[in-house]
Amino acid sequence: MDHKEMAAREAVKYIEDGMIVGLGSGSTASIAIKLIGEKVKGEGIDIIGIPTSRASDLLGRAVGIKIGELDDHPHVDITIDGADEVGPRLNLVKGLGGALLREKIVAAATQLELIVVDESKLVQFIGQKSPLPVEIAKFSHKTTMLRLASLGCSPVLRMIGDAPYVTDNGNYIADCRFQKIADPAAMEIKIDHIPGVVESGLFIGLTSRVIVGSPSGIRILEKQCML
Ligand code: A5P
Repeated sequence: MDHKEMAAREAVKYIEDGMIVGLGSGSTASIAIKLIGEKVKGEGIDIIGIPTSRASDLLGRAVGIKIGELDDHPHVDITIDGADEVGPRLNLVKGLGGALLREKIVAAATQLELIVVDESKLVQFIGQKSPLPVEIAKFSHKTTMLRLASLGCSPVLRMIGDAPYVTDNGNYIADCRFQKIADPAAMEIKIDHIPGVVESGLFIGLTSRVIVGSPSGIRILEKQCML
């Protein structure tokens, strides 16, 4: 079985009747959404899904999950989401799929945040493999990117063909390549202080467990784990 699917299958076991369930974004979370749809039909459980993107909203509806709004269900029992990097203390980089803002809002409202990945996402330090996606306002975005660069990165405006990529929230994304982010919590604060930054893809202290699908089976990383 595909390693992403292994992780997603394990995570879906945590879902129980009556739960409010955050629906993550990206390829691994999409596998989980399809499996949740199968579970809803197969076991007849009654859950409400809270999507983290337009794509997960559409997919959730397509597979038969009842969809709700976070504002109507502000306490989410469990969210299953992917990640681009999983570093020490389960700090994450997210947002290569562009959904980081809604993913972070839902994660912050979630009691059990389960991150589903294959082994390729595990890193020794944040910034090892992935640029850090930062969602920024369209207005004066070049000025915002200059300020981001002053933090020691090389920001690149994400494009689709000839046009800037636009998020579900109508903003741009700057992909910021750092050599290494030694102190992700401090960097999150510095980035958030820049006017024009909507949200960064640093997820600090939001993860409950990481479920890793690997050739040797499932590994579950808890918060106290050092990679
Ligand atoms: C979406 O914005 C991202 O945060 C995804 O969760 C992340 O890119 C992981 O996606 P994959 O499971 O497709 O690697």
